[in-house]
Amino acid sequence: MKQLKVKIIKKDNISDSCFKLSLKSDYLKKTAKPGQFVSVKCSDTTSPLLKRPFGIHKVTSHGIELLIKKAGKATQLLSQKKEGDEIIVLGPLGQGFEIEHKKNDILLVAGGYGVVPLYFLADQIIKKNKGAKIKVFIGGKTKNDIFCAEDFKKLKAELYFSTNDGSYGHKGFVTSVLMKEIVKLEPKNCVIYACGPNPLLMAISDISKEEKIKAQVSMEEYLACGIGVCMGCAIETTQGKKLVCKDGPVFNAEEILWKIPENLNKAIDQRINL
Ligand SMILES: Cc1cc2nc3c(=O)[nH]c(=O)nc-3n(C[C@H](O)[C@H](O)[C@H](O)COP(=O)(O)OP(=O)(O)OC[C@H]3O[C@@H](n4cnc5c(N)ncnc54)[C@H](O)[C@@H]3O)c2cc1C
Ligand code: FES
Repeated sequence: MKQLKVKIIKKDNISDSCFKLSLKSDYLKKTAKPGQFVSVKCSDTTSPLLKRPFGIHKVTSHGIELLIKKAGKATQLLSQKKEGDEIIVLGPLGQGFEIEHKKNDILLVAGGYGVVPLYFLADQIIKKNKGAKIKVFIGGKTKNDIFCAEDFKKLKAELYFSTNDGSYGHKGFVTSVLMKEIVKLEPKNCVIYACGPNPLLMAISDISKEEKIKAQVSMEEYLACGIGVCMGCAIETTQGKKLVCKDGPVFNAEEILWKIPENLNKAIDQRINL
């Protein structure tokens, strides 16, 4: 992991709220692994002070690509950067996905910008396992939350979509679509890799347990330091407290001791809809 000053060599606005940044860095290109992230200084001033974490979406011939959704002040400021500008980036950080080389039915499940690290992962799996059959399940609140479908199509992955309002794909939760496909497959040949909001990852943990399918989940937490110093991102696991930024963000699903969510009804609805 290094702190680097990197040049933005390409910027693409892919919607009103979402943009891609292509960053020039040989170091990140050579060292980044799927599921790892970088911490980006989004502002030229001290506000906001903290860097922000973003998953590595692609490794390109020049470096890496990020896909970012405007959420608040830092991402808004980052969206104003232009091609040619330089930004401070720390990374690659954290522990990424471990590719299960012996499994051929690969189930990638994303909620919203959860697709970001899963594209890099799919690309690596295809390069390393010629027999892999990749199915990608992408869920969002509305069609505006569905990203990267074209990119996954180029990898010849099978795609499944869902939105809460039915504006794109199946109306309902992505886990319902996933379950319809899982019943057609042999559990011991399958592995699930998931990234998205915690209620989705909780549902994936349940599916993993009930269907006896190994699952790895990339956890969503607020990260302050991003490097294991502030202890602000600790979660409970079967092996005690672990840090999302340093021991994760990717964990085996069976390892996580989930907290009862504040909005319990939402989580219950999610299971009823499975
Ligand atoms: C490991 C990791 C990888 C990430 N990868 C990406 C990525 O590839 N692309 C991307 O667009 N975003 C990603 N995020 C989320 C991103 O870091 C936040 O959206 C960003 O920090 C928001 O900063 P802000 O100042 O713009 O908004 P803030 O003012 O800090 O937050 C605005 C709103 O965004 C939500 N939010 C902020 N941070 C998080 C978080 N960590 N988890 C859940 N909700 C949050 C909150 O609801 C808040 O109300 C990732 C987060 C983590 C922990
Ligand atoms: S964010 Fe500081 S320890 Fe993880």
